[in-house]
Amino acid sequence: MKRKELESCLQQVDVFEKPKLLLEQYPTRPHIAACMLYTIHNSFDDIEDKLVADLGCGCGVLSVGAAVLGAGLCVGFDIDEDALEICSRNIEEFDLKNTDTIQCDVCALVPERFSNKFDTVIMNPPFGTKHNKGMDMQFLKMALSMSQTAVYSLHKSSTREHIQKKADDWNVKMEVIAELKYDLPASYKFHKKTSVDIEVDFIRFCLK
Ligand SMILES: C[S@@+](CC[C@H](N)C(=O)[O-])C[C@H]1O[C@@H](n2cnc3c(N)ncnc32)[C@H](O)[C@@H]1O
Repeated sequence: MKRKELESCLQQVDVFEKPKLLLEQYPTRPHIAACMLYTIHNSFDDIEDKLVADLGCGCGVLSVGAAVLGAGLCVGFDIDEDALEICSRNIEEFDLKNTDTIQCDVCALVPERFSNKFDTVIMNPPFGTKHNKGMDMQFLKMALSMSQTAVYSLHKSSTREHIQKKADDWNVKMEVIAELKYDLPASYKFHKKTSVDIEVDFIRFCLK
């Protein structure tokens, strides 16, 4: 499948109806989701026939994309039942048999339960910059414990140095695959502009 085809497919995915600020609910735009998944699939062969986890799956744009690209199974984890309801609807509309969802707090998962159970973990985690400082790193720590091969994630570029230090501490190799302009839509009242561009790194992590 071509990247453009994947992108138009992901444009059909329904997104949050009433996004929750505290949970940092903003969907990954189809263009960015398609670029991420296409790279994971074509450059690293980490999707087809693989067991994939999508942490903070929201309405499931990354899960749907991974499933369309031939994941053996993609399991989406999210804390919010409203988001998961939309995600399940999307899965049904795409008639996907290779996806599942689990409602849970990713930060409270028992690491041993899912330890090394997945080949690949993909995620666009909460950036954890306000009330929930450090949330992105909690997601990353959990993702690394779950994956046997690689974790693909989005993080604010301004935190790159901090993430690199953590990766070194955890003995994890970190590669910035792309620097993206992430257009955060003005979904919340405190956003004055219609969208705000923030610089985001698309990163691949794997054990050294
Ligand atoms: C930035 S959104 C990304 C949504 C989706 N993955 C996407 O790419 O469109 C972050 C997601 O993390 C979920 N989330 C926030 N805190 C969570 C937690 N503690 N445990 C599980 N999911 C959480 C939110 O409900 C939201 O769906």
